[in-house]
Amino acid sequence: MSSIKYKNNNLFVENTSVKRLALKYKSPFYLYSNDNIIRNYKSFYSNFKKVDPLICFSVKANSNVQILKILKKIGSGADVVSGGELLKTLKSGIKPNKIVFSGVGKTEEELRLAIKKNILLINVESENEAVVINKISGQIGKKTSIGIRLNPDINAPTHQKISTGKAEDKFGLSKKNLIIFCQNIKKLKNLRLEAISVHIGSQILSENPFKKTLKVLEEIILKTKINFKFVDLGGGFGIAYKKSDRKIKLKNYSNLVEKFKRKYNCKIIFEPGRAILGNAAVLVAKIQYLKKGVNKTFAILNAGMNDFMRPALYDATHNIVPLIKNNKKFNKAIEFVGPICETTCRFIKYKNYQKISQSDYVAIMDVGAYGASLSSNYNTKPLIAELLVTKNKVTVIRRKQDLHKLINY
Ligand SMILES: Cc1ncc(COP(=O)(O)O)c(C=O)c1O
Repeated sequence: MSSIKYKNNNLFVENTSVKRLALKYKSPFYLYSNDNIIRNYKSFYSNFKKVDPLICFSVKANSNVQILKILKKIGSGADVVSGGELLKTLKSGIKPNKIVFSGVGKTEEELRLAIKKNILLINVESENEAVVINKISGQIGKKTSIGIRLNPDINAPTHQKISTGKAEDKFGLSKKNLIIFCQNIKKLKNLRLEAISVHIGSQILSENPFKKTLKVLEEIILKTKINFKFVDLGGGFGIAYKKSDRKIKLKNYSNLVEKFKRKYNCKIIFEPGRAILGNAAVLVAKIQYLKKGVNKTFAILNAGMNDFMRPALYDATHNIVPLIKNNKKFNKAIEFVGPICETTCRFIKYKNYQKISQSDYVAIMDVGAYGASLSSNYNTKPLIAELLVTKNKVTVIRRKQDLHKLINY
């Protein structure tokens, strides 16, 4: 179910015609559905209802404060990876006791902020980071709650650039090093080891790697004999970007997590990002030019890899659909590309497409996660606007960046 769909051949977000917005607001822009965000969150939670987890939305997937406010209202916490994300999360009203902080290279400044704000957990990724947190906590006169991130050496089938749980990846501590860490932690008097955390990668469509990870966690708990108050199972749950993408089945995994929780009497945390925001937005763009190529026609959009990076960075497939469907055929293969001066500024190619014309509008689908949050000023282009639809109400939740401010910094 999605609230982004065609009604009489017109693309709608909830009760709002996208074409109407394309004519009213300057494209390109991100366009979110409030309904999809809420539905995804509730559906994720209901999969794990018996576990009653704390869901810490992964802010890196989407850090718009208004989006975070929607999630806050329905009970979400947050997983942040920088001081900036932490400040945005606090601005949204999410309480510190629902915030976890991950990342391999947190600076002293970021750690000091997190410690002062009394967040739920700092998920530590190395022994040396723990030493720094201990030092700062001592200076502030506080005992800080930490989690320790395990690198379970599990190869989750996903794009190599978003796999995080293999031994060669920079994240977390190996089993051996984590066990040693747990033995030495008592020396760091200003720390309270309360959690073990893990995150094996993103856009994972099979439940098997998650199940394997649970087994590794059991092994560690038995070896260290620590009763962790929290077990943070991370995010990574994939969504179907293509028709052929398998839908992840969480029921069986959820039963295992429930047993795990009962056995070890811990609070479970999840850090989903994509599963909550992925299908909750489209990027509306105009066909700036149609240009004849040798075996195909280029549809050059006014949105590029600076606005939406996933295809260039991860070879990601995102369908591009017309705002108004017709049943006429385009006479050639068509490739949608962007204006940025890079060959990789290309989105998707279709052998068959409907008839489209220069100046028509299209929508790049499923861009709510790692879309706006990954955008940049490359080629000195301003960040584009973000709009939120709630039924027929439209709110600008980020204005387009002012080009003059960008130049005169
Ligand atoms: C530590 C951590 N938690 C959670 C996530 C969210 O992942 P996803 O959006 O795939 O659920 C990420 C993303 O890579 C991450 O690095």
